[in-house]
Amino acid sequence: MISTRPLIFPEYFTSNTQYTDKLLMPLPSPTPVPSMTWCLPGCPTNLLAAPGLETPPLAMRGGERMGRERVSSFNHVPVMLEEVIHYLEPGPGKTVLDSTLGGAGHAAKILQAGAALIGLDQDPNALSHAEEKLEQYGDAAVLKQLNFSEMLNVGREICPEGVDGILMDLGVSSHQLDCADRGFSLRARGPLDMRMNPCAEVDAAEVVNEWDESELARIFWELGEERKSRAVAGAIVRRRAIKPFGDTLDLADCVSRIVGRRGRIHPATRVFQALRMTVNREMECLEAALESAPALLKPGGRIVVITFHSLEDRMVKRFFKSRSQPEIDRPEWPAAQSNPDFCMNRVTRRPVISGPDEVKVNPRARSAKLRVAEKRKAGNS
Ligand SMILES: C[S@@+](CC[C@H](N)C(=O)[O-])C[C@H]1O[C@@H](n2cnc3c(N)ncnc32)[C@H](O)[C@@H]1O
Repeated sequence: MISTRPLIFPEYFTSNTQYTDKLLMPLPSPTPVPSMTWCLPGCPTNLLAAPGLETPPLAMRGGERMGRERVSSFNHVPVMLEEVIHYLEPGPGKTVLDSTLGGAGHAAKILQAGAALIGLDQDPNALSHAEEKLEQYGDAAVLKQLNFSEMLNVGREICPEGVDGILMDLGVSSHQLDCADRGFSLRARGPLDMRMNPCAEVDAAEVVNEWDESELARIFWELGEERKSRAVAGAIVRRRAIKPFGDTLDLADCVSRIVGRRGRIHPATRVFQALRMTVNREMECLEAALESAPALLKPGGRIVVITFHSLEDRMVKRFFKSRSQPEIDRPEWPAAQSNPDFCMNRVTRRPVISGPDEVKVNPRARSAKLRVAEKRKAGNS
C-alpha cells in the first residue's frame, strides 16, 4: 500500500536546522489503555493480572487520566540522578516540571529536596506507578498524563508564574522495554506496537506493514543510522507481500537475516530504535517541548535534558546554542545582527556523561548525555 504519510522533518538531519513550531500531525490525546494480552508472566503491567482493570476511569490530581492499573514494581534506575539534582537545585519554594516521570526516580528526589513537582508522562502505566510512588508527598506533586510537547499550557495553568526547573529524560524506561506486551523489545515476542501512549494513532505494525519501501529505508537510515537501511526495507516489503509481520520476533528475525551480527548489540537494534522514534514522533515532540521551555521557565530557571541518541543530542545542543547567542552572523550579511531569540545561557558547554561506576551498575547510562541551559535573568522570550 502506498502511504501518504508526511516525511518526518528532513531538516533535523541538515546542518542548519531552524527551530520553528511545526507539528504536522495532531498529537494523540489521553485515551483508555487497551487490553494488554501480550504481557510476559509476572510483568507488572499485565492488565489481565492487574486488579482494577474493569474500574471506570479515575480522576487524579491535576487533571483527568483515563485508564488505571496498580503497578507495584517498576524497574527503572534513574540516570545521572546526582547530576540532575545538582543542576536543578530543587528546594523549598521552587517548582520543577519533570516532563518524563517514568519510574519517578528523579521526581522522588526532587520532592525529597522540598520542591513542588509537576509530573508528566504520556504513558498511563508510568503515571499509575508515579502516583503510587509519590503519594506520600500529597499536594506537592501534581501529575498528569500528557505528551511533553504540550507542556506549555499545562505548566502555565498550574504554575502561572513559571517554573524553576524542567527535566527531560528522553526515550523509554527499562520498564517499557521489559514488558513484551508494549512491543519495544526485540528479544521477547510481543505485538508490533511501540506506542508510549497506547492510544496514539500509529503503531509499529502500521509502519512496518504499510509504509512505502523508500520511507522505511529513510527512517532506518536517519533515525536508526542503519547502514543496510535499503536492504532491510526491501526485505521487509518482500516478506510482508507474502504475510504481514505479526509480532516483534517475526520482524527482528527478518531484519537480523539482512543485517547480520556486528559486535554485541542485537542486529535489529537500530531498526527497532527507528521504528520507536517514528511511532512516538520523538524528534517532533522534543522540538516542540524545547521551543516552549523558555516561556515556561522563570528567569534564572534551568532546563536539564538527558538524551540517548545522537540526533536528539544534536537538536538539544543546537537549540541551546541558538538561544544563547547574543548575536547571529551569516556569511551573506554585512555585519552580525542581534539575535531575537537570545533568552538563555548555556550552563554546560559540553555534555555531561555518566561516570564508569554508574555505567557499571546501569548500562543504560552508557549513551546518556546531559545538557543544561538557564533562562537569562533579563530574558526576552
Ligand atoms: C527514561 S524514562 C524517564 C525515567 C525517569 N526520569 C525516572 O527517574 O525514572 C522516559 C519516560 O518518558 C516518557 N516519555 C517519552 N517521551 C515522552 C513525551 N513526548 N511526552 C511525555 N512523556 C514521554 C516515557 O513514557 C518514559 O516513561
